[in-house]
Amino acid sequence: MPATLSIQECTAPINAQLALVKASIKNIVPPESRWLAEALGHSLGGEGKLLRPVLTLLMAKGLGLLEGTHDTSVIETASVAEMIHVATLLHDDVLDDADLRRGRETVRAIWGNSVSILTGDYLLAQASLKLSQIGNIRLVAIYSHVLSHLCDGEVEQLRTSYQLSVDWDSYLRKSIGKTASLFSAACESAGVLAASYADLTEDDIQRLASYGKNFGIAFQIIDDLLDYTATEAELGKPVLGDLRSGLLNAPVLLALGSNRLDDTAKAGLRAEIEGLFTTAQAAQAAAAKADDESSGATVALDAQVAHHIAAIQNYLTQAQALDATLALANDYAQCALAGLAPLAPGPAKEALEGLVHLALTRKK
Ligand code: FPP
Ligand code: MG
Repeated sequence: MPATLSIQECTAPINAQLALVKASIKNIVPPESRWLAEALGHSLGGEGKLLRPVLTLLMAKGLGLLEGTHDTSVIETASVAEMIHVATLLHDDVLDDADLRRGRETVRAIWGNSVSILTGDYLLAQASLKLSQIGNIRLVAIYSHVLSHLCDGEVEQLRTSYQLSVDWDSYLRKSIGKTASLFSAACESAGVLAASYADLTEDDIQRLASYGKNFGIAFQIIDDLLDYTATEAELGKPVLGDLRSGLLNAPVLLALGSNRLDDTAKAGLRAEIEGLFTTAQAAQAAAAKADDESSGATVALDAQVAHHIAAIQNYLTQAQALDATLALANDYAQCALAGLAPLAPGPAKEALEGLVHLALTRKK
């Protein structure tokens, strides 16, 4: 694993271009509707890490693209990746009934679900406009595929939620669709832009894309881990949210497949998950009906949810599932690093290595 770099050190080689990306996103054609303009300003005004544009810019830098006059298309392509990301969050918060994102009120909490969806749609429209202005048809195809994968991953998650039959294939399909496809595109797009100017083969471009894809899977697996290990303050949202909302994430899937649990323990774990899913759904329904969150039925169901969660956590400890989750994320991280082979040694490549390390060690 590479030496630890801070996020500031990782972005240092492309700070100037990152400022241009922020300006480009801020300068998208403003909507005429005041609500839409306010919601757009709110959704773009948070403390986002801009990880996807950072990937595009560092790849571009590593490929020598930021030295000359080709900056504009790289900046605009990096902006598209962030705009699509923010659009998915605006839609996702509606699907998840989420009131908080990165510690701030969501657009849906302030303006309602319809405005949140339409703000996301507006961002997608503006991202398409940017792509059309860049004029590289392959980039249009790459980002169109990403949008398809995002929808596919999200629907796969819907299909499998509150189900015990989730397997790794489904988990990976969901994770690649929801997270890794956009990381992959952010990297591949830099390769596509560089191919017009540099001696880069299709195989090289695909290796760069595989860095993004494997990084994205590792990132998602760490997200799953943080659902158990981080605090609500660190996450900016309630913890253990995956299980409560019916999702079998990586630690649970690893525990269910672990040879540290015998068949009886696995059956016990399954029964606890089933119990949690049933009570969590009942608790949500009761909370939605009750005027008062401290009503007797809600409190009793919340206590049962807490009981199931404690039992599941015990099984995860027995299975050493959190260690196994970190090890799995590390495997994907190693695959990501191998994808950097087409880049010459230098600050951009070191930063891309450093980002993988940061993703593995992040606390939120
Ligand atoms: C966050 O998931 C959600 C995503 C990374 C992708 C969401 C994708 C869609 C809603 C479908 C496609 C949308 C568009 C605009 C094409 P999470 O709920 O697991 O994570 P969170 O805790 O950050 O909300
Ligand atoms: Mg969500």
